[in-house]
Amino acid sequence: MTSVQRCDQCRASYDELDPRVRCACGGLLALEHAPPAEDGASLRRLFEERWGQRNDVNLSGVWRYRELVLPSAGERAVTHPEGNTPLLRRPAIAAWAGLPQLRVKHEGHNPTGSFKDRGMTVGVTQAARLGASAIACASTGNTSAALAAYGAQAGIPALVFVPAGQVALGKLAQSLAYGAKTLLVRGDFDACLRLVQQAADELGVYLLNSINPYRLEGQKTIVLELLHQLCWEVPEWIVLPAGNLGNTAAFGKALREAKALGLIDRVPRLASVQAAGAAPFAQGFAEGFGARRTVKAETIATAIKIGDPASWDRAVQAIRETDGVVTSVTDAEILEAKAVIDAAGVGCEPASAASVAGARRLHAEGVIGRDDRVMAVLTGHVLKDPGVLLTYHQDTDPPPARANRPIEIDADLRAVARVLGR
Ligand code: F0G
Repeated sequence: MTSVQRCDQCRASYDELDPRVRCACGGLLALEHAPPAEDGASLRRLFEERWGQRNDVNLSGVWRYRELVLPSAGERAVTHPEGNTPLLRRPAIAAWAGLPQLRVKHEGHNPTGSFKDRGMTVGVTQAARLGASAIACASTGNTSAALAAYGAQAGIPALVFVPAGQVALGKLAQSLAYGAKTLLVRGDFDACLRLVQQAADELGVYLLNSINPYRLEGQKTIVLELLHQLCWEVPEWIVLPAGNLGNTAAFGKALREAKALGLIDRVPRLASVQAAGAAPFAQGFAEGFGARRTVKAETIATAIKIGDPASWDRAVQAIRETDGVVTSVTDAEILEAKAVIDAAGVGCEPASAASVAGARRLHAEGVIGRDDRVMAVLTGHVLKDPGVLLTYHQDTDPPPARANRPIEIDADLRAVARVLGR
């Protein structure tokens, strides 16, 4: 075997095929891979050669980087494929943020419409290697959509725990469509996460939340692919929305490893952005991370409506190591950023817009410089949450500044002419 799972707290190590997802001491496990034979320059060449090759594994924007993901999975990966998401330059979005060099990495282009596919291809590959009889997760909707799809592909029954009445329509529809047993839990996401962990411990289902170390290995590739797209020229900032903090943790690990392997010579600064009504991590940052904080979460961005984030300590490490920052934005700022992103023909779900709203705020506060190269991650597709969209454009009175009201007309040409002001 080429990798081990090591406990963050007591440093105990387990074989990579050990099925536990937490250390015996209760700490979280992280994967450590044997260092590849290649140096940084050779790895960059290898990744470049693979991009564009036509076999399934190299077609994946996750498995292309397998030396840093799960070297031993080889050709047995359960891959859609996923990744290969675009890095977009859109002047209208950049202008709104006041950052001419802003670009957006659109993870909504993944097969189930969010970045969760990158973690799930690795997590479900591992579940298949272990012969898991069932897989499970708690979710605000995107993880569950990805779990359901990859479970279906691997032929492993999937069980999802979502907060009843708090999951965006597109996400709930996906979980049902892909055939997962979908439990609408009367409680919030934090209650779902507690429940699924008990179910995993007591009922023997394999847990695929982002505390699962294999998930995070896949999510690292958002950063690796982004750096690859920039020809490994390191930007000043990477900005991302933050809820359960799995992604912030994964980004930190990716950057630490990329630097250690010589893929890059310095790390960009991370900026994690929370919704103001679900911002325990932003509060922790403002207090110098003295204590772990929890809140009762409330925000329109249901994907990041999380009050007790699981990957807190790892995310703190990621922010500290990258000289990063954490901020929060109001629901109004999220909705305005989303309207700008949508109207640029790009589109994203509400939580994703937090990254662009956060970049704008950090620029206004003087933290991000006007000419900094800022890469904002859009984490989910515009169709994930049609409910918020229609409320904004159609059902809010008075209409918000950027509302695009539909116009109902009689089936007659004069009505069309009137609309056109003729
Ligand atoms: N953006 C979207 C669209 C998400 O779905 C999530 C998390 C995040 C951002 C935040 O990422 O949790 O790693 O800090 N969604 C999880 C889910 C919680 O269940 O789908 P994070």
